[in-house]
Amino acid sequence: MQVVIFDHSEQVAQHAAQWISDLITNKTTPVLGLATGSTPISLYNMLVDMHQTQALSFADVTTFNLDEYHNIAPDNPQSYCRFMHDNLFSLVDIDPANTHLPTCSANQNPRQQGLKYEAAIEAAGGIDLQILGIGANGHIGFNEPSSSLASKTRIKTLTEQTIQDNSRLFKSDEHQPDSAMTMGIGTIMASRYVLLMATGEHKAAAVNAMITGPLSATCPASALQMHENAIVVLDKAAASKLTNQSYYRWADRQNAKLNAQYGFYHNY
Ligand code: GLP
Repeated sequence: MQVVIFDHSEQVAQHAAQWISDLITNKTTPVLGLATGSTPISLYNMLVDMHQTQALSFADVTTFNLDEYHNIAPDNPQSYCRFMHDNLFSLVDIDPANTHLPTCSANQNPRQQGLKYEAAIEAAGGIDLQILGIGANGHIGFNEPSSSLASKTRIKTLTEQTIQDNSRLFKSDEHQPDSAMTMGIGTIMASRYVLLMATGEHKAAAVNAMITGPLSATCPASALQMHENAIVVLDKAAASKLTNQSYYRWADRQNAKLNAQYGFYHNY
């Protein structure tokens, strides 16, 4: 795991934006895994800005989102389809046909939808770079604690904590779903690179469990300890419970020197 710690949350977004920009300018048919939530909003703002001011093009990009609420209309303001449309897809030159979310309406079978989503990822050649956030309980996507570490895209019942955490985003008269379709931990682990962003002190305990805790389904994000190319990008507050901070900062400076000397190699 490469742990990168910045003083400010904007730098976390900038770092992630740079990774995405490097991927889509260096690969002819890049496949991006995307996340929702409040954490990646500034990342999407930066990508839109790079599209407008630096001609960063998404014309050849294919995307797969991590998750979507079960049985929610794509134009519902609470849907992740709508979130992606409003924060990124409608603001860059991506072909809507190349954007995918694991949707499942009431008259569709979640098991079949999960299998179809896995097949679509495979047909696209697999995910090059998966962007992740982390839940306060250590979830990635909607893989709640106890999720199989080998799981694939499927329907998950949300925990009370996640429903409570996300209730801030719903008005009192709005229906809040209690289940969602999500890529599995096995799906995420199959991505060539994963980049997890975390900001704020409310994420510090989950971040510490992910990086220094035992590899356990109790903290689904800890599975990333087994990923060959996992980059965890944190602000100071999210890193505040890590005991090895000075080592991570030192290793990061060393990595910058190694990259300058030998070049940076992306194994996409
Ligand atoms: C949500 C999403 C996750 C996201 C997490 C953190 O429930 N399913 O993909 O990473 O919670 O969200 P936020 O960035 O708003 O803290």
